[in-house]
Amino acid sequence: MNAPVSASPRFDIRLASINPNHWYGVARSSEVTDQPMGVMIWKQAIALFRDSQGQIQALADRCPHRFVKLSRGCVVEGELECAYHGWRINAQGQCSAVPYLEANQKLPNTRVRRYPVKEQDGFVWVFPGDTSLAEKIPPLALPEWDHLNYIATVSVIDANAHFSYLIENLMDMYHGHLHHDLQAWASAELDTIEETASRIDAHYSAQSYYRIDKIWSVAQLFIPQLRQLHPEPLDVSYVYPHWVSRLGDDFKIYCLFCPVDETHTRAYLVHFTSLNAFPNLHKLSPKLRLFLKNRLFGSAQKLLDGLVLQDVPMIEDEQQAYVENPDRRPYELNRALISVQRLIQSQAQI
Ligand code: FES
Ligand SMILES: [Fe+2]
Repeated sequence: MNAPVSASPRFDIRLASINPNHWYGVARSSEVTDQPMGVMIWKQAIALFRDSQGQIQALADRCPHRFVKLSRGCVVEGELECAYHGWRINAQGQCSAVPYLEANQKLPNTRVRRYPVKEQDGFVWVFPGDTSLAEKIPPLALPEWDHLNYIATVSVIDANAHFSYLIENLMDMYHGHLHHDLQAWASAELDTIEETASRIDAHYSAQSYYRIDKIWSVAQLFIPQLRQLHPEPLDVSYVYPHWVSRLGDDFKIYCLFCPVDETHTRAYLVHFTSLNAFPNLHKLSPKLRLFLKNRLFGSAQKLLDGLVLQDVPMIEDEQQAYVENPDRRPYELNRALISVQRLIQSQAQI
């Protein structure tokens, strides 16, 4: 048996910061309307809203007047109007109106921080770091989101735990033990790990419970009796700061991380079922295919939500154990997790 492995003793991975110079998926596109929405990314509160052109804007969620949350307000003529005294903040973060400004008073010369924000592949991405780097670093691509051959399901992870516990859970395929009849894979064996300065690719061989090759086989997502084991490669990747996995040709899952602080992590789990095994599908009109894609949206909801419900208590237990005794190190045997910890550490220190 391999010797137990542990992280560097000097650096506490459970307190590690994020590298803010990446795009973080903070909301689904459909969640952001002309009603402001407050989100958090690594201790920074951000108000998202759509302006009069329908463009998403992201401003620090603090009114420059008395620092209440701007997301409690509303959007008026494409600008954010604070709930408290009605100051208006435009998309550039400047105060554009104060309802009770006297004739001899000037508008306050304050500026609210504006964050780079993008809508891409169904999600709203915010860049919380150095604005000058935002255009040099692309957000993670989810090409399946708009592809007519993929059916999407989205689940939200909201865990009282440091983000390192969540990514370690997702990179450790030996935890299939936890998932009982929700299990998508079995008998994982770690083969190889590739490690660079920005990503870890862990290649497992495994058995898959799913094969989507007949139209009725989508029913395997909710009827466990229809599933049969067969060997498939299982690849999981930490594409910092997010996670991508593929099980055979039929399943792809992403986890878009949105760490809130050292003890709270939010993330979107996005699952795609491929319909590529149906060669005649392309004969249908794109309109009909889009209709089918939209109708089948969320068909793996029970599976995905069930996995999250089982995983979250595990990582919250780990966090709790850390809080009770930060010096006690877990007895880890999976080499992929050490690579993950190295990447978290190097990104935190960039
Ligand atoms: S606190 Fe926002 S307008 Fe006064
Ligand atoms: Fe899991």
